[in-house]
Amino acid sequence: MMLRTLAALGALALAAPAIAQTAPAPKSATITSPDGHLQVTVATDNDGRPFYTVARDGKPLVNPSMLGFLFTDAPKLQRNFRIEGSSTSASDTSWEQPWGEWKTIRDNHRELRVRLKETTALGRVMELVFRVFDDGVGFRYELPGQPNLKTAHILDEMTEFSIAEDGEAWWIPGSEWNRDEYLYNRTPLSSVPLAHTPLTMKLADGTHVAIHEAALVDYAGTWLQRVEGTRFKTVLIPGAGAAKVTRDAPFVTPWRTMIIAKDAPGLYMSHLELNLNEPNKLGDVSYFKPSKYVGVWWEMHIDKSGWGSKPVHGATTANVQRHIDFAAKYGFSGVLVEGWNVGWDTAWFGDGKGFDFDRPTPDFDAKLLADYAKKKGVALIGHNETGGSMSHYESQLERAMTFAHDHGEHVVKTGYVADAGQIERVGPNGEPMREWHDGQFSANHHLRVLEMAHRYQVAIDAHEPIKDTGLRRTYPNWVSREGARGMEYNAWGEPKNLPNHESNLFFTRMLAGPMDFTPGVLSLTGKGGTPLLSTEAKQLALYVVLYSPVQMAADLPENYEKHLAAFQFIHDVAVDWDETRVLNGAVGEYVTVARKARGGSDWFLGAVGDDEPRSLTVQLSFLDTGKRYEAQVYRDGDDADYRTEKRHSIVVEKRAVTAGDTLTVKLAPGGGQAIRFRLVK
Ligand code: NOJ
Ligand code: CA
Repeated sequence: MMLRTLAALGALALAAPAIAQTAPAPKSATITSPDGHLQVTVATDNDGRPFYTVARDGKPLVNPSMLGFLFTDAPKLQRNFRIEGSSTSASDTSWEQPWGEWKTIRDNHRELRVRLKETTALGRVMELVFRVFDDGVGFRYELPGQPNLKTAHILDEMTEFSIAEDGEAWWIPGSEWNRDEYLYNRTPLSSVPLAHTPLTMKLADGTHVAIHEAALVDYAGTWLQRVEGTRFKTVLIPGAGAAKVTRDAPFVTPWRTMIIAKDAPGLYMSHLELNLNEPNKLGDVSYFKPSKYVGVWWEMHIDKSGWGSKPVHGATTANVQRHIDFAAKYGFSGVLVEGWNVGWDTAWFGDGKGFDFDRPTPDFDAKLLADYAKKKGVALIGHNETGGSMSHYESQLERAMTFAHDHGEHVVKTGYVADAGQIERVGPNGEPMREWHDGQFSANHHLRVLEMAHRYQVAIDAHEPIKDTGLRRTYPNWVSREGARGMEYNAWGEPKNLPNHESNLFFTRMLAGPMDFTPGVLSLTGKGGTPLLSTEAKQLALYVVLYSPVQMAADLPENYEKHLAAFQFIHDVAVDWDETRVLNGAVGEYVTVARKARGGSDWFLGAVGDDEPRSLTVQLSFLDTGKRYEAQVYRDGDDADYRTEKRHSIVVEKRAVTAGDTLTVKLAPGGGQAIRFRLVK
């Protein structure tokens, strides 16, 4: 911990943590970001209701916004508060990600802690903690242990975000049956209904803000409900009981977060989400190596084979061997196999009680395949589809992880396919219950899975997961997840993912953390030969744009062998990074990302757009100065267009470049561009 000296903080020096007890009680408390641009104030109104405001360069960004809780069994915690005292502190530290988009993360913030006490007979106490970074704000409630608040049965949290001006917003609906697998809406901020987070907005003055949460532990996730105008409030995601959250005091809530940036790229460059999570509590996770994988997967989504035994079972020993051979030949270290276990012949959607997580089907020789893979330097990736039956999965969890460990699987993809609100749970007395994917029970379930997985040296890639809130910092075996509309919609989705879907994802869902999107369908055809709304070059760009430390090459092996020139990029691209730079971007329109391979000298660039042709100017100043690079460019052909057969038009070319050069990156409608910058020794 490197606490900056007071002298280093200059005129704005902040005292070390200490509750300043003064009489009469202070009416407000204020803190600024380290660079002085953001200012947060906490105060109480005439009814003793605490609120906060945020200003940027003196201009209101968040108008007075209320705070508090509703309980199922006690008076609400919102009125008749008095600020008892406040304290400030500052911290400027750095830490390393074991894997990630950046190796070193700087955490430079100032903290304001405000202690509030009810002036009524109940006299309950609540603390508010704000952390202010140069690029945003996080705050949470801390409820100390106290006689009149022993167990909190929280009906809802009444945290507001009253945005000071209107603008545009990019969002997916909250509380809808398909969880978070929706295309993004772009509307005025003042017409968003109930939205998932991250909720991204661009205000009239150009400021970009993304509201989300961090460190969702033993608590319900939140949606954002617009109350009126541009004022939003949290709606805790339900559970089976009346109380959405039940906690014994003392406890802390997840952080409510706002990334605040001058432009769209600035949103992604923020580390606020990770910095508001606790450090690694698992220890060594070196059993997990960031890697690319292929799988017996796309063939199921396009109906070439299926998960169940009939009519054509995909996970047969022979078919998996074929995939292992392909992986070994082209340098992939993982092979995902779905449909390998007993249970797929049942109606498993929303009811996974028929699944057995350590019993393969008779035509899948697990031992033989594990040995075969190992001999070829490949590992199987396990698959545990639960159909949303969390309790059933937990009842077999240790067996599941033992099976994975014994078969050399260091990554298990889990899945929770069930409509929203249909997670199956067996209650404490054996009673059936229904939970939500982002509720408190689910938050705890995922951590139980991670802890068990860690004991067996297994990393988790969860599909239909709880929302990502940066917990990979604390649980670094939580390597990826889905939690948005992925590639599978390009197989059977109606509609398929639209050309700007990934430019939306990058500035919304991806602010939360890695996504197992499963890119790379170079055949550009889904079920029944239906075309993807993408060019071939764009499929390559996704490996750089959409970060995940496990990256699938999703297409069929035989399709890759028909597109070997483009496939070379998928072979070469890194999956773990020392550095990431967002070079340009506009939410839902285009983005260009450059990343430097972890421990290497190569840089990679990916650019994706929407349905417009675009010409972007990119300065190569991120490259090492004084060095020469070979740029291996995979670009849309001049006639490329996602709407015609020319979606396959791709040019692969090489040119010598240095850090002083400027490139013109042209994108076709529905297009993209991928570049490897190879250091010339
Ligand atoms: C949904 C997942 O997102 C997909 O990847 C998987 O193939 C199916 N569930 C079956 O588990
Ligand atoms: Ca899914």
